[in-house]
Amino acid sequence: MEILENKNVEVNSSKYKRKVCVTGASGFLASWLIKRLLLSGYHVIGTVRDPGNQNKVGHLWRLQGAKERLHLVKANLTDEGSFDDAIMGCDGVFHTASPVLGKPTYDLTAEILKPAIDGTLNVLRSCKKNPSLKRVVLTSSSSTARVRDDIDPNIPLDESSWSSVELCQKFEIWYVLSKTLAEKAAWEFCGQNNIHLVTLLPSFIIGPSLPPDLCSTADDVLGLLKGKTDKFDWHGRMGYVHIDDVALSHILVYEHPDAHGRYLCSSKVLDNNQLVSILSERYPSLPIPKRFKKLDRPHYEFNTLKLENLGMKFKSIEEMFDDCVAFFKDKGLISSI
Ligand SMILES: NC(=O)c1ccc[n+]([C@@H]2O[C@H](COP(=O)([O-])OP(=O)(O)OC[C@H]3O[C@@H](n4cnc5c(N)ncnc54)[C@H](OP(=O)(O)O)[C@@H]3O)[C@@H](O)[C@H]2O)c1
Repeated sequence: MEILENKNVEVNSSKYKRKVCVTGASGFLASWLIKRLLLSGYHVIGTVRDPGNQNKVGHLWRLQGAKERLHLVKANLTDEGSFDDAIMGCDGVFHTASPVLGKPTYDLTAEILKPAIDGTLNVLRSCKKNPSLKRVVLTSSSSTARVRDDIDPNIPLDESSWSSVELCQKFEIWYVLSKTLAEKAAWEFCGQNNIHLVTLLPSFIIGPSLPPDLCSTADDVLGLLKGKTDKFDWHGRMGYVHIDDVALSHILVYEHPDAHGRYLCSSKVLDNNQLVSILSERYPSLPIPKRFKKLDRPHYEFNTLKLENLGMKFKSIEEMFDDCVAFFKDKGLISSI
């Protein structure tokens, strides 16, 4: 097991695929992406805020191929130049790190906006310094496309749709604002600096968690399966996607020679009441809420043909929740009866 702090790692092997960097390696999605990258033969440089924190990184070292082909490097989105060493010499960068918080506890700019927007530019400035860089994949969010007050319910939203900054500010939807402004800033910077950027826009990610502590979205799902309504009340209508499909989609848009622009990544959009009806029928022993109040929100669907045309096939709602419920049961977080 090797833990490196801000040391550039040289990889010379023709047997394996080349080196890529994943920012925010200890996160819910990044951990699964690293699992998939290692399985498909990549050398992975993962950035974490604290490589010595075994609670945050222990699960990464247990991944197949990690001891041979994973290196962890310390980096923080808010420290200028922090990603230079991790990114130098990599062919590709997957930038997943971003604060996933609904509300700031004390300072909106410091906790959410700055790490998301300035942090993305910080990572991209490191990319610009790397002459061997081929492509950057930025994990954006389907929320950057769906917060609008002019949606035509008959036309599914596609990658040309952008959330309204004014609406996000008016309703204080800070996470969506941070992701929207971060993705826009990334497009502008990469356009000016000739960096090949592809962005992936996952909807709500469902599935087993590799890190021992649940991230906020996985915790929301656990709450729903235990009968809580508070978090999902606000969600109203939402797209859902299996975590493995999100990881595979990152690799697909990184590897596919024709990949360009933005890619919505979502299996199915459901109202809360449709979701709980499917879930309570499928898992009758779980105290899943019966009904949610109907919110006055526009109806929308996602058009995901762009990603499907590259070869992506999405798992169903049933498959993603079966895997998620099995995981929670296995961990003793919900009753296994
Ligand atoms: N979960 C979803 O449903 C969903 C849907 C669409 C898009 N996304 C996007 O997917 C990405 C990963 O989210 P996730 O669900 O996997 O959540 P997560 O587990 O909370 O991962 C977020 C990662 O960002 C890192 N991070 C936050 N602030 C940082 C900073 N200042 N410097 C360095 N790293 C920092 C965190 O590091 P620490 O571990 O040190 O805190 C963590 O590794 C995010 O870009 C998110 O917006 C998620």
